[in-house]
Amino acid sequence: MAFPTETVYGLGANALNAEAVAKLYAVKGRPGDNPLILHVRNLGGAIALAGDFPEHARKLAREYWPGPLTLVVNKSPALPAWVGGHPCFTARTVALRVPSHPSALALIEAAGVPIAAPSANKSGAPSPTDASHVEADLGGAVDYILDGGEISVGLESTVLDVTGGGAVILRPGAVTAEMLSAVLGTPVREAALVSGESPRSPGTKYRHYAPRAEMTVVCGNPEACAAYIAGKLSAESRPGGILATAQTEKYYKNYFKDRIHFYTLPEAGDSASGGLQPGEIAALAAGDRADPQTVARNLYACLRRFDSLGAEVIYAEGVGESGLGRAVMDRMVKAAGGNVVFV
Ligand code: TXA
Ligand code: MG
Repeated sequence: MAFPTETVYGLGANALNAEAVAKLYAVKGRPGDNPLILHVRNLGGAIALAGDFPEHARKLAREYWPGPLTLVVNKSPALPAWVGGHPCFTARTVALRVPSHPSALALIEAAGVPIAAPSANKSGAPSPTDASHVEADLGGAVDYILDGGEISVGLESTVLDVTGGGAVILRPGAVTAEMLSAVLGTPVREAALVSGESPRSPGTKYRHYAPRAEMTVVCGNPEACAAYIAGKLSAESRPGGILATAQTEKYYKNYFKDRIHFYTLPEAGDSASGGLQPGEIAALAAGDRADPQTVARNLYACLRRFDSLGAEVIYAEGVGESGLGRAVMDRMVKAAGGNVVFV
């Protein structure tokens, strides 16, 4: 069953039932070596599944749970070896999170078991931030979709490895490095930024969050970004998409005049696919550069919208990396398969 959390929609199953968990992997088309987050109702529920739950991790849990923080801890030896991942694999650690969405908490409470829940999208696609996205990806394959309406964060939780006394960010999210450092009193680093270190969160090695179109992230000040993107799309014959910001709409309107259509979210019931003609350009303002939260909330819906419009090439404006901007850039760059230019 799919259900809303404050970050993205999850596809949930009893984390202790091997058959149910195997089905999760099959429905998503998820590689078996990519483990799952177990959703629990409170810190006590998390401690019960952990081999050890270190004091610094408890401090973070007390501060940020319920909320968009996942803690990777050593697993309780009392649990079957596979729990935390695919039943054909062995998991030494387990990723735990207490979501804050009331529907998610009610579901965990009613189930009375930890709920394993990856994002409720087909593996590789952008995570769902609306029940309609779940329906589009997994509609025929899930029994129920609990429609929780609007999602507040829009990007997946921060994944933090707290084993071995450390605190390493495996996936940036709404609980930022600064927020974690403030509680721990020491700087918290991000795994992927350390050169030579292989990704410890298996999920980070796969292409993720990606639209069907070829995507490029363009970083720079608003005017320079708009000029670069306008130049590229002027020479482009395929239907194009621009992930713009509130600051740049005016430039594109000026460059492209009536070749460009500005769309809004949510799509007003017109999910018809392939709407764009060759040489036409669809633009979506993801949000405000000064407020990365707005971009975070709309990013995946925008990428899905470009797909449904039939865009074949997308240029997305990058945002500043402070606060939640870091997580936004992480997802954008992955969606673009690492295709980034600085102007
Ligand atoms: O916000 C979220 O975290 C959403 C909602 C539904 O809770 N869930 C989510 O799950 O994004 P998923 O499966 O799409 O991403 C989980 C990430 C993957 O990158 C996975 O590799 C990592 O967490 N992960 C899970 N268990 C792990 C473990 N034991 N050690 C390291 N990384 C782990
Ligand atoms: Mg996912």
